[in-house]
Amino acid sequence: MRVIACTGLKGGVGKTSTSVNLAALSAAAGHRTLLWDLDPQGAATFCLRLKPRIKGGAPKLLRGGRGGLTAVARSSSVDGLDVVPSDVTLRDADRVLTGTGRPAKAIRRLLSGTKGDYDLIVIDCPPGLNTVVESVASTADVLLVPVVPEPLPLRALVRFSEFLEDTSAASPKLLAPFLSMIDRRKPMHRRIETEIRTTSLFLGAAIPESSAVARMGEEQVPSVVSSPRSLASLEYRRLWAEAAERAGL
Ligand SMILES: Nc1ncnc2c1ncn2[C@@H]1O[C@H](COP(=O)(O)OP(=O)(O)OP(=O)(O)O)[C@@H](O)[C@H]1O
Ligand SMILES: [Mg+2]
Repeated sequence: MRVIACTGLKGGVGKTSTSVNLAALSAAAGHRTLLWDLDPQGAATFCLRLKPRIKGGAPKLLRGGRGGLTAVARSSSVDGLDVVPSDVTLRDADRVLTGTGRPAKAIRRLLSGTKGDYDLIVIDCPPGLNTVVESVASTADVLLVPVVPEPLPLRALVRFSEFLEDTSAASPKLLAPFLSMIDRRKPMHRRIETEIRTTSLFLGAAIPESSAVARMGEEQVPSVVSSPRSLASLEYRRLWAEAAERAGL
């Protein structure tokens, strides 16, 4: 079982859209896939048309209450894709995880408790430098970080990398940043894309600003399913290939 986390310090940059689309592509490729929505906003849950309800509540789940992830997972409208939904009880996730004494271990236990039911678990993280993110980072195989090609998001990526080092949560080598919401009509986006291509830090996929992706919040269907021929879907498939290879799938 492999774990891909969509994470990062910045909010509103495409973590959830990426989680939902990559999870759908993984399932379409025949991998038994679980998407774990760990953000109290519940956007991934909403985009897959599931009720925002964790059976028994998030504190019980995070403390390792009986049943684990498998007991709260729901099947989705995408064949082969199960979802652990989010609800508002996740607002206390940092405090609950800290209260366990070993937050990273608590997350690792939950993931390993799925006992071979899944080939891949995709985790949609809340934004920020918090205990949830630190714990997930310490157990994930790949940390996908969407970066809008502008100076402040690039600074946030550096800060996120320092956070991983400072907390010893994960090696910055696990970081897999990629360009998100790129609009090549903007000179700044073109210039920053050229600059980052002189390094090998970023993945090759670059998800364009796309109305097909934005519509996911309305249609509640992964955009790679509803608009498979869009440029965004082409780039999501490229991202999936790169992420799957890094995860060893
Ligand atoms: N490639 C894209 N093109 C156009 N709109 C996008 C794209 N990716 C995401 N969006 C839109 O931008 C908003 C934020 O996207 P998303 O929820 O995926 O980001 P996020 O990083 O998960 O945000 P948060 O940090 O709040 O969890 C949403 O309204 C989404 O529909
Ligand atoms: Mg999100």
